[in-house]
Amino acid sequence: MTLDPFRLGLPFLRFLEPEMAHSATLLGLKSGVTGFLRPKPDDPALAVNLFGLAFPNPVGLSAGFDKNAEVPDQMLALGFGFVEVGSITPRPQSGNPRPRIFRLPNERAVINRLGFNNEGHDAALSRLEKRPHRHGIVGVNLGANKDSEDRQADYVQGVEVLGAHASYITVNVSSPNTPGLRALQGRDELEALIEAVDRARRTLANDPPVLLKIAPDLIDEELEDIAQVVSGSAIDGLIVSNTTIGERDRISGPHAAETGGLSGRPLFDLSTRVLSEVYRLTKGKLPLIGVGGIGSGADAYAKIRAGASLVQLYTALIYEGPGLVTRIKADLLKHLQADGFANVADAVGADHA
Ligand SMILES: Cc1cc2nc3c(=O)[nH]c(=O)nc-3n(C[C@H](O)[C@H](O)[C@H](O)COP(=O)(O)O)c2cc1C
Repeated sequence: MTLDPFRLGLPFLRFLEPEMAHSATLLGLKSGVTGFLRPKPDDPALAVNLFGLAFPNPVGLSAGFDKNAEVPDQMLALGFGFVEVGSITPRPQSGNPRPRIFRLPNERAVINRLGFNNEGHDAALSRLEKRPHRHGIVGVNLGANKDSEDRQADYVQGVEVLGAHASYITVNVSSPNTPGLRALQGRDELEALIEAVDRARRTLANDPPVLLKIAPDLIDEELEDIAQVVSGSAIDGLIVSNTTIGERDRISGPHAAETGGLSGRPLFDLSTRVLSEVYRLTKGKLPLIGVGGIGSGADAYAKIRAGASLVQLYTALIYEGPGLVTRIKADLLKHLQADGFANVADAVGADHA
């Protein structure tokens, strides 16, 4: 039996207020606890080549866990195929008043209204610059400051400041916790934003892929608009989805009425439906990253069959601990093999066939 230091710490973390538990987890990770871990090399059937990047496996860490790019290498060491840091805004900001993260353990869910609390571009830059060896795929998720007068400029600045250190860039216009942010998903604003971000990334030597992260709460017409705008645009892929402001009938308990974005298990059906719809609208031509409520290999496999080339998760990690990553990869492999798929790419969109 291998010693899993996280299993030892996990029951204790549950007694802490959620944000304190998160800080304790980051502290533990920074103290070098992952130095014990030697994840097995991934089965070649799990490898994905996309955006000119070689993902060892399709299971990524979603944005929000490592907002300030403090522990990307530690999270890669847990077996994630890629890690997305952020969201990062130009200037540091403290976010909404606490408490602002709520656990809903019965539903394996979380409501958060953090509001892009982060240390800003410069702090993230100095950490990304210092990464000892830049192995592994680390995406940088960009946000806009709450009090920004020109949000488009915030994303452009993010590309200019952090793009050279990003395996890919995510333009996050879907957080429900910054008032007005999601209006950037509208047709005209989105077109202008994509153009501006594209101009900025083309000035960089590494010309990083740019992904757009969308909300699961868009109505059909809005999804159609987005699909039309991104098809044939400079956007390399979509991340579907962020947290939801809906699905409240799926949760109960003392925190069910808290304002904020809901993530975890109750988000799975909705985000997978939207993923499937986006795959259909973009005719399977645009790479999609499926995120929302993944807690098992079967969930990851369902996202892939619905149209995702890669997946991400965050909330399930809070309940299951980091051993989950290895379990998901092993189960996903079994599902692929059972259905006769040679690799992940072969199963992408299988439900649409
Ligand atoms: C506490 C918390 C903070 C988050 N912060 C961000 C963020 O800063 N930027 C972002 O794009 N998504 C953020 N997310 C959304 C996740 O990246 C993900 O899209 C969503 O939680 C659905 O995945 P899950 O059900 O596996 O958690 C956050 C989620 C949680 C739970």
